[in-house]
Amino acid sequence: MAKTRVTDLDWSELGFAYHDLPFRYRAVYRNGQWEPGELTTDSDFHISEASAALHYGQQVFEGLKAYRRPDGGVNLFRPDQNAARMVRSADRLRMPGYPEDLFVKAVQEVVAANQEFVPPYGTGATLYIRPLLIGSGAVVGVHPADEYIFNIYVTPVGAYYKGGLTPTAYVTSEYDRAAHGGTGQAKVGGNYAASMLPGERAHADGYSDVVYLDPRLHENIEELGSANFFGITKDGRFLTPKSPSILPSITKYSLLELAEEAGLKAEETTISIYDLDQFEEAGAMGTAAVISPVGSITHNGNKHVFYSETAVGPQTQALYNRLVGIQFGTETGPDGWVVDV
Ligand code: PLP
Ligand code: COI
Repeated sequence: MAKTRVTDLDWSELGFAYHDLPFRYRAVYRNGQWEPGELTTDSDFHISEASAALHYGQQVFEGLKAYRRPDGGVNLFRPDQNAARMVRSADRLRMPGYPEDLFVKAVQEVVAANQEFVPPYGTGATLYIRPLLIGSGAVVGVHPADEYIFNIYVTPVGAYYKGGLTPTAYVTSEYDRAAHGGTGQAKVGGNYAASMLPGERAHADGYSDVVYLDPRLHENIEELGSANFFGITKDGRFLTPKSPSILPSITKYSLLELAEEAGLKAEETTISIYDLDQFEEAGAMGTAAVISPVGSITHNGNKHVFYSETAVGPQTQALYNRLVGIQFGTETGPDGWVVDV
């Protein structure tokens, strides 16, 4: 694949797609330890046909973004949280986590090396950062690899859900993305593989994503295919699902704090798919999704419309402005949330 040149890009037309940029960060785990990592221009892996990642899905990843500030500098948003979550995900799949301090330094290094690809402030676009850890060593029986690759590529992106702050429609699925007691809390590729068929069906039916229900009862909202869910009740509560089989979203934990700051009562709790009337507004939240209003959810053929199918609600808009303001450095957030590259 040809390398992308910065002159190839139209910042306002970026989708959520891969561009082969000049540099990525790579480190190898071998003989029981992480060897020093470095930047490389090689965007391909050469791994064993028997690697644990390919056969048994021994693989975890992360997703975060770099934001161009109005002063031309570049911010990361809570990269320490991605570092910590990746270690937890790795533990779940019996992989050696990449040390958290090295993770943050590696993210800074790879963003700085590709810094001309961090989109200009005001375009709404960002540089998406994708850390990956794979079991590269050969195995035949089901057990952990003895060699691993940690890699971080970056790619400039626009909105994940088409329309950005325009509400979109969602639909529940009869499928689950993760089991109770399974790997839902870990950011592992297998959860996303499981979501592709339901996701494609939902898209074909005109929905922007799937709402997964809890795998035991199929009654309570879990999360969306690629973001967490929130609803704001008529009596001023910001609610988001509590479940052992969903991703502990960094955007969610940030918004739980920002909602309190905005005077809402923020809570992780059980949210029944049959209790959507309590909500005035609803949205999707995540690194890729940022905050995307949920216009409606269709369940068993019944469509529930939240605030509006065409306009973002005022509380969702205010939370969006606050979050994005902190990320792009036009507003000051809680201590330590923003890290300079
Ligand atoms: N849930 C799923 C399934 C996701 O893929 C993501 C995206 O990372 C999220 C939630 C949101 O997590 P975060 O806010 O850490 O990006
Ligand atoms: C993210 O928000 O970083 C995600 O991982 C969502 C999706 C693109 C997998």
